[in-house]
Amino acid sequence: MTREIVLTGVTTTGTPHLGNYVGAIRPAIEVSRRENTNSYFFLADYHSLIKCQDLARVQQSRLEIAATWLACGLDTNKSIFYRQSDIPEIAELNWLLNCVTAKGLMNRACVYKSAVDANLVDDRDPDSNITMGLFCYPILMAADILIFNAHKVLVGRDQIQHIEMARDIAGRFNYLFGDHFVLPQSVVDEEGFMLKGLDGRKMSKSYNNAISLFDTERKLRKGINKIKTNLLEPGEPKDPNDSIVFDIYRAFATSEQTEQMRKNLIEGIAWGEAKKELFKILNDQLAELREKYLELMATPAHVEQVLQAGAEKARAHARARIADLRNAVGLVNFK
Ligand code: TRP
Repeated sequence: MTREIVLTGVTTTGTPHLGNYVGAIRPAIEVSRRENTNSYFFLADYHSLIKCQDLARVQQSRLEIAATWLACGLDTNKSIFYRQSDIPEIAELNWLLNCVTAKGLMNRACVYKSAVDANLVDDRDPDSNITMGLFCYPILMAADILIFNAHKVLVGRDQIQHIEMARDIAGRFNYLFGDHFVLPQSVVDEEGFMLKGLDGRKMSKSYNNAISLFDTERKLRKGINKIKTNLLEPGEPKDPNDSIVFDIYRAFATSEQTEQMRKNLIEGIAWGEAKKELFKILNDQLAELREKYLELMATPAHVEQVLQAGAEKARAHARARIADLRNAVGLVNFK
């Protein structure tokens, strides 16, 4: 049986929060433990330059995200864990793909279109502040995926369009130069990928409603206390299906614990009590990981070593692929 190649990347602009953990990191690590799977996980730091010119932020975020994956139990013997910018073959493939991608396809990218819309709303030139990096974002993403011929790409809903574009681009290249690329599929973890934040919208750094994954105990407690609830008093029945506290609780609890909490809410547990339970369950699970995380953050040279070893493994594949692809498009040595 051929092994399935699964891949995902994380843009290195932020500090991981509970939503990233439940929605992306935890399920990806589970997938990497499956038999017959080769997993490629990477820090999308080339991508981060599109959104962020604050170099200290980019640097810090790369370390934080790497330390998070390792602290959460990623086994780098079973998966390939690397930084995108350590694989220059990705940048080279990006160019080859640029040359076969229709501009019209990029015109349809939601991220680009919403940037144009925002400019129009504010009465600016439609292209104001839009770099070619942003415009071509989906092509670089296609290069990330196609360089390793990934079959499955783990993503959130907002990224599905990009995977479809990667398929289109791969199809176009195959049509022109022969069957080089697998057409990748997106895999969206329906349950995991959408944790709600403090205000009930999707937990996201950009909404400022996130709880950091590895904050101190005190900050975790503070974050939980800020979660929005309704004004029902202790003793009044509360609807578990309409509660952010319950939503986050169930993402960390066993099914028995979840059922018990559901019952408690219906029976009128006070919000303060429910939040205490939430804190307990989160802190129990995160305390050990937090300790590992802090250890890794304090030893960046060790993290560097792990990433270099990952890049070595990834590049062995990437080099061979790029050699084939250069041949395919006619960049051959004279003999
Ligand atoms: N664009 C993705 C995000 O913002 C990150 C990413 C970059 C990615 N390259 C990728 C995800 C390739 C999957 C595959 O979430």
